[in-house]
Amino acid sequence: MTAPHPPTPRLRAEDLTLSYDQRTVATHLGVDIPDHSFTVIIGPNACGKSTLLKALARMLKPRHGQVHLDGAAIASYRSREVARRIGLLPQTSTAPGGITVGDLVARGRYPHQGLLKQWSADDETAVVDAMRQTGVLELADRPVDDLSGGQRQRVWLSMVLAQQTSLLLLDEPTTFLDIAHQVDVLDLCADLHARKGHTVVAVLHDLNQACRYATHLVVMRPGGTVAAEGAPADVMTAELVEDVFGLACRIIDDPETGTPLMIPAAPRRFAPEDGEGHGRSPESVMAEPR
Ligand SMILES: Nc1ncnc2c1ncn2[C@@H]1O[C@H](COP(=O)(O)OP(=O)(O)O)[C@@H](O)[C@H]1O
Ligand SMILES: [Mg+2]
Repeated sequence: MTAPHPPTPRLRAEDLTLSYDQRTVATHLGVDIPDHSFTVIIGPNACGKSTLLKALARMLKPRHGQVHLDGAAIASYRSREVARRIGLLPQTSTAPGGITVGDLVARGRYPHQGLLKQWSADDETAVVDAMRQTGVLELADRPVDDLSGGQRQRVWLSMVLAQQTSLLLLDEPTTFLDIAHQVDVLDLCADLHARKGHTVVAVLHDLNQACRYATHLVVMRPGGTVAAEGAPADVMTAELVEDVFGLACRIIDDPETGTPLMIPAAPRRFAPEDGEGHGRSPESVMAEPR
C-alpha cells in the first residue's frame, strides 16, 4: 500500500531559478512550506536564503519555475491580495525620513485599506496589538530614525504583524536584538504558530535556536540548494553542519528542551588540561575529510 500524498501546502516553490541580472543564485530550487508549521531556514552567508524568501513573497520574479500560493500561481494575484495573505519582514528596510513608530506600523494596514474604506477601529486595534506584542507601544510617538537597531527591528516586525496575515516570512527577525529580546520574538512566533495556527517561516543564524523552535527545518547550502529538510532531530547532525557550514562540531541534547544542541569544536588551546576535552586544533579539523 502506498502512503497517501500529503496535502498540497498553501505556499510552495517549484523548480525555481533565481537570479539578479547576470548572477544566478539558485537553480532547480523547490521548497514546500508545511501549513501551520514554524519553518526555519538556515544556511551559510550568501547561500540564497533572503533571495528565496523574496521569491516566496513575490518580491523577486523567478527566471524559471513558479511559486504557488493557495493553489494558484502567485504571479496571478493582485499585489494587495498577496499582501493580505503573506507578510514579509525583509532583512533590511529603510523607513521614510521622520516617520514615527505609530505611523510606520500603521502602514502594515495598507493591504486592508481601499479607496473608499476609511481607517477603522479594526485597523487601530491591529496596530495597537502589534505594537504591544513586540513591546514597542511606548515608542509610538518616537521617530523611527532615533531608535536603536533592536528597537527598530521590533518596529518593523510590528508592522508585519499589523498586516494580520496567516503566512509570515521573517528574514532574520532576531538580528540586532539582545538575547532576551531574541527569545521574546521567537516565543511570539511560536505562539502565532501554535495558538493561532499561523504558518511562520523565519531565517535564523543561531542553529540551536533554530532547533528549539522549528517544527520544520530547511538547511540550504551554498549554490542555493536544499541540503536537508525535516524535523530538527532528524536533520541536525555533525556531518551536515560540517558539510554545509564547514564547521567541526558535535551535537548533544539541549538540556532544557531535548532538541539538538550544536557545540562548535574548540581549538586545542581551549581543551581541558586532563586531555578529556574534545577540542581540536584548526589544523587537525581542516585535515579531516568532509
Ligand atoms: N540585489 C542584489 N543584486 C545582486 N546580487 C545580489 C543581490 N542580493 C543578493 N545578491 C547575491 O545573491 C547571493 C545570495 O544572497 P542572499 O539571498 O542575500 O543570501 P543569504 O540571505 O543566504 O545570506 C549572494 O551572492 C549575494 O551577493
Ligand atoms: Mg539574508
